[in-house]
Amino acid sequence: MTTSTAASIPFPDGFLFGAATAAYQIEGAVDEDGRGPSIWDTFSHTPGRVAHGDTGDVACDHYHRLDEDLDLMARLGLDSYRFSIAWPRIQPTGRGAANQQGLDFYARLVDGLRDRGIRPLATLYHWDLPQALQDAGGWGVRETSEAFADYAAIVGEALGDSVDGWTTLNEPWCSAFLGHASGVHAPGITDPATALRAAHHLNLAHGLALQALRGRVRGDAEFSIALNLHVVRPDRPDHAGDRDAVRRIDALGNRVFTGPLFAGAFPDDLIADTASVTDWSFVKDGDLADVNQPLTTIGVNYYSTSRVREWDGTGDRNQNTGHNASAASPWPGAESVQFIREPGPYTEMGWNIDPTGLYELLMRMHRENPGMSLLVTENGAAYPDAVHDPDRIDYLRRHLAQVQRAIADGADVRGYYAWSLLDNFEWAYGYEKRFGLVRVDFDTQERTPKDSAAWYAQLARTRVLAG
Ligand code: FCB
Repeated sequence: MTTSTAASIPFPDGFLFGAATAAYQIEGAVDEDGRGPSIWDTFSHTPGRVAHGDTGDVACDHYHRLDEDLDLMARLGLDSYRFSIAWPRIQPTGRGAANQQGLDFYARLVDGLRDRGIRPLATLYHWDLPQALQDAGGWGVRETSEAFADYAAIVGEALGDSVDGWTTLNEPWCSAFLGHASGVHAPGITDPATALRAAHHLNLAHGLALQALRGRVRGDAEFSIALNLHVVRPDRPDHAGDRDAVRRIDALGNRVFTGPLFAGAFPDDLIADTASVTDWSFVKDGDLADVNQPLTTIGVNYYSTSRVREWDGTGDRNQNTGHNASAASPWPGAESVQFIREPGPYTEMGWNIDPTGLYELLMRMHRENPGMSLLVTENGAAYPDAVHDPDRIDYLRRHLAQVQRAIADGADVRGYYAWSLLDNFEWAYGYEKRFGLVRVDFDTQERTPKDSAAWYAQLARTRVLAG
């Protein structure tokens, strides 16, 4: 097992040790108390979309086990909990009056956290778009961005006094490109032009939601977005074609969001690279100013790295088996790029383990956005079902050591959220892939903290990485 170089140096005072979940992955109770269907209900119930035909119908039954799960978090000594709010619980069709029972559930959650001294970090959108909005065009149309602002206003009004931090969107890259280009996520569309429209409408939704939240929530609330930025490495660093492949994937994977969000502009090279896919005429005057709203914090979700080279037309263009190699490409306009399998070791997802990528990302965000604080809003690993999970402890320890390294080098990293509190519904992979600090028996719903949970609880208490 690797020993941390930073062992015995404590994390800064006030650094938050948290855990994260998302509504559709844990709640279950999909047709209770007025919740409407979401695109993930539709998708998971469509044969062939999710491994083993798994759905989120029951998931971890968290909706009915809220108090037990809150007590679990308290026992782990979490400083903070990142959860998401299911839009279709609040507005069953994505528009119109609020469903009070939906709001009540999240009020109970937030109050229960505060009672236990755990700081709530609420994500407004972790992929469960109301199906009725999808039927009207989903993220392919700007009306969805406008509807999202109305939803944000309702939630801000209801919970704004007691939530410390608001994250607008989780991983808009996945929503846009896995949802609309490769189609491996809901709504399962494979149309590159729609994916680029969706990226813009997600950016716009973020900006409009921030405008709706401000003034409705506590003055000291923090605002963020959780991005799964890509760490892209050239296969042959001295090869100009490989370096250009990195540039393209950086534009499509990162700067399509960071450009508009943090600088109010799309990168010129992205517009040029995608000219054969779209003319971007769906970007209207004033949109980019709406997107580019002040933020306090960037949320970084990090798991692994990518390696690319210029494709010479031979072999498999996507060797990255951990990322659904057989699906359509999630990279519009990047036909010249080949994805090379990164060297191992790998987690159970097939994702390579490279903690230095987290350091690079944190330092990049720090350099590019000097006034903003950073949170690691997700990091963790799937391993085979076991309560004794030394590999997960090793993964967490090595990534947390890189967080310490980034802090030592000046990045203002304020917290770390392990993905995930519980084993849960891992999207297209169903229940087979287990990321939890706590094991869930999906037959009995019994929760059993794994060794990693005990290790993490000790870290939260001592604030020192055990070597
Ligand atoms: C991220 C998602 C999260 C979880 C992890 C493993 O992309 O945000 O819901 O599925 O991956």
